[in-house]
Amino acid sequence: MSTDTPLSPTSKHHRFFAAFYNRSMARTERTVLSKIRKELLSEIPSDVERVIEIGAGTGVNLQHYPETVTQVELVEPDQHMAKRISPRSGHHDNVHVAPAESLPFPDNSCKVLIATLVLCTVDNPAKALAEANRVLEPGGLLLFHEHVRSPQEKTAKWQQRVEPFWSRVAAGCCLTRDTASTIADAGFSITRLEAKRIPGPPILRDWITGSAVS
Ligand SMILES: C[S@@+](CC[C@H](N)C(=O)[O-])C[C@H]1O[C@@H](n2cnc3c(N)ncnc32)[C@H](O)[C@@H]1O
Repeated sequence: MSTDTPLSPTSKHHRFFAAFYNRSMARTERTVLSKIRKELLSEIPSDVERVIEIGAGTGVNLQHYPETVTQVELVEPDQHMAKRISPRSGHHDNVHVAPAESLPFPDNSCKVLIATLVLCTVDNPAKALAEANRVLEPGGLLLFHEHVRSPQEKTAKWQQRVEPFWSRVAAGCCLTRDTASTIADAGFSITRLEAKRIPGPPILRDWITGSAVS
């Protein structure tokens, strides 16, 4: 595992969250998320072999990449998560223990960057997206799937109320982020934006899936 960027002092490490992440997500993965992950990653152009994934967690996306992707640069700041990633055999995947706000890659060095279930949790989404924009080539593709602030005012109010508690138990996850706006504000042109409602508690039902060009 490479550790080419020192952990930022604000990086948090969540041993128990990491240990239970896959188990706690298993049902949602089985019933909805797997399909969404696969569909999203199938948007990677077939001539792209190397991609960057930010906040890769335990590496759940790895099984869903098309075979044409031979090298995934998995960026994950929490060592408890990172150590659970099993790079695919016969591929050139690398794990980088680093935050999305400070990516260990040069400018314009990548064609595709993936963010799933992570822009809710990064300390500074605007900075993480500015970094994504920096490392992507002009015209590079950002693929995202994120849960967001509900468009329904009543639910959004509940998200706001619950957020301080939720954030503690879910390793810093925020419920009220308007991630599509943050993506656009970071200089990306959103090329596809789909609002999805996923079964689950109302505070976690509203998601966005899509793509944006740097
Ligand atoms: C809910 S998990 C999602 C993991 C994975 N992306 C997935 O789709 O299953 C959120 C992940 O974001 C990571 N994370 C937290 N702060 C981060 C940051 N500043 N930069 C990058 N990743 C971060 C967490 O350590 C955790 O692995």
